[in-house]
Amino acid sequence: MRLAFTIRRYHPELDAAPHDETYRLDITRGMTVLDALIRIKNEQDGRLTFRYSCRSAICGSCAMTINGAEKLACRTSVRKEWERHGGINIEPLRHLPVLKDLAVDMRSFWGKVRAIEPWVRADHLPPTGPLSLPAGSAQFHNVDACIMCGACVAACTVHEVDQGFLGPAALAKAYRFVADPREDSTARTARLGALQGPTGMWDCTRCNFCVEVCPKDVKPMEAIIRLRRAAIQAGMTDTGGARHVVGFRDLIARFGRLNEALMPLKVVGPSLRRLLHVLPLGIRMLLKGKVPNPLHPPIEGVQHVRALLERARR
Ligand code: SF4
Ligand code: SF4
Ligand code: FES
Repeated sequence: MRLAFTIRRYHPELDAAPHDETYRLDITRGMTVLDALIRIKNEQDGRLTFRYSCRSAICGSCAMTINGAEKLACRTSVRKEWERHGGINIEPLRHLPVLKDLAVDMRSFWGKVRAIEPWVRADHLPPTGPLSLPAGSAQFHNVDACIMCGACVAACTVHEVDQGFLGPAALAKAYRFVADPREDSTARTARLGALQGPTGMWDCTRCNFCVEVCPKDVKPMEAIIRLRRAAIQAGMTDTGGARHVVGFRDLIARFGRLNEALMPLKVVGPSLRRLLHVLPLGIRMLLKGKVPNPLHPPIEGVQHVRALLERARR
């Protein structure tokens, strides 16, 4: 079967703008998108640029956008893409600068991974101490399967609007060290503290795209949620995100359901400046009848909700 491959081309030093080029190729049984790109490069256009190495979904270098989704070219079947989409459209990873054609500049990605200091900080262990993991002690929830392909970052809706966001891969990597029993507790606290600021763990909107595209089932968003849980358990509750979580839980425990009138006050916290900031919005909502009664009574059976919360806390 002969198929058409539409590939985004861009040589920033020569081209005014990216453009698409179409190549036709006889496909073979079991052919991957990477196989097709290599054939196109070898047989039709030697200037076509893309990255690859292992061809086995191990090195993470062949991530690109295939029919609108971030995928590893070496494990994406041409036939399945054709059957699902009726064509093969290949573009570079989104929201990362293009070096040439399908090769993007990963320096910001690596910079963020370096920024979380991806190593165990066990300063107080003796140099000959127990550096191997105690058997059965580490629960990394598969975050150590990450191959640093960058697909999750390209798909991230927060990274799309704020490229300073640490992003799903680096935050998942940070969780791997927070979960490591060899890390000093002071270092762990410092690590969690460093992720509290803008661009850190509370910036994730939980859109789930990083989970959907990850070829290694790392589930970065879930790692971020675990990071948040660890931060709250360590007493780090003075961020808007943490106040939202704690306030939500407190209101559910009190009323058995969310109290939308009190929730903004929980998120704002004890800060006059923040209160004055949201006050005009609150007044406008009140005048339009959008503020529910803050004094509504607890729901019937609220004790069951409280028991559930208590059980979940253990
Ligand atoms: S869940 Fe969070 S980290 Fe993952 S893609 Fe969405 S915003 Fe980004
Ligand atoms: S978390 Fe998944 S998608 Fe993100 S860099 Fe690692 S392997 Fe790739
Ligand atoms: S070539 Fe290594 S992951 Fe695809």
